[in-house]
Amino acid sequence: LRAEALARIAEAQTLDALEEHRLAYLGKKGSISLLMKTLGGMSPEERSEAGAKLNALRTEVADAIAARKDTMEAAALESRLASETLDLSLPAPEMPMGSVHPVSQVMDELAEIFADMGFAVATGPEIEDDWHNFTALNMPESHPARAMHDTFYFPDADEQGRQMLLRTHTSPVQIRTMLNEGAPLRIIAPGRVYRSDSDATHTPMFHQIEGLVIDKGIHLGHLKWTLETFLKAFFERDDIVLRLRPSYFPFTEPSVEVDVGYSMERGPGGTSRRVVGGSGDDDGHAWMEVLGSGMVNRRVIEFGGLDPDEWQGFAFGTGVDRLAMLKYGMDDLRAFFDGDLRWMKHYGFVG
Ligand code: PHE
Repeated sequence: LRAEALARIAEAQTLDALEEHRLAYLGKKGSISLLMKTLGGMSPEERSEAGAKLNALRTEVADAIAARKDTMEAAALESRLASETLDLSLPAPEMPMGSVHPVSQVMDELAEIFADMGFAVATGPEIEDDWHNFTALNMPESHPARAMHDTFYFPDADEQGRQMLLRTHTSPVQIRTMLNEGAPLRIIAPGRVYRSDSDATHTPMFHQIEGLVIDKGIHLGHLKWTLETFLKAFFERDDIVLRLRPSYFPFTEPSVEVDVGYSMERGPGGTSRRVVGGSGDDDGHAWMEVLGSGMVNRRVIEFGGLDPDEWQGFAFGTGVDRLAMLKYGMDDLRAFFDGDLRWMKHYGFVG
């Protein structure tokens, strides 16, 4: 039996044939299994002798089957490796490359420029309450400036009775940061803001970046230097000049609107780029209105939980999308949020 079993196993050519042999010898009704059953009728001496032999036989047959199986599988792999070839030098199929959206790109540039000047990044919620967005910024309920914001209001007040809205500017982050962190402060707050407005230069959602510095003895000179340094770094040229115009924001006093001037020959981003929104003047400068700013109003410092006799500061706010348009010569803000890859490609944002 032993010789017969081992010979058949060695000759088996397929896994199926091997399985048949396994059943024939080791299966429930297999010949070795049947022999095992006869042990019961033997005397103890016979049984221990025959039992040992049968056990050894059973193990030997099982090992032989396993070994034959390994050999067959190795041979199968061998032949597959021989028949299938893989050309490792073949170039991989080209994958489309993703890229950074111009708005994200500009946000990153801004964060980097301000980080060099020691500004940390602060954030606040896009769903804001009326108090942070308006009241604490010196715009009480009846203030006419509120009407200019085209605010998206939520229809119902929240559980605490607060009127909720989509923040219309990043300025509420000024209040939140003063209340949370105290003074001194040097932060920027980039993020999404919302106003019910839509045309070539306005979208209902757009991006702003807020800046806030609170310290002792801060004055307009600090504001001007900071903005000049920032704008030169952002537009990557040294010959830009600033024009500070008196303006009005309820949360700054005095308030200054800032225009950037650059020599008409070159445009803000160098010769190759188109200039949008620039208008010439007598000394060959084009001016672009870029941001609103001013010294933080005493009342706002108080709303931020600080003593305005001890702490002073300046703040500024500007549209990130607008800065991107000016730097990269884009003329329709709506296209920023259409997700059209052809537009990205045209402005060099997709490889
Ligand atoms: N929050 C103002 C706006 O949205 C911009 C601004 C910020 C002006 C900070 C002054 C100081 O128009």
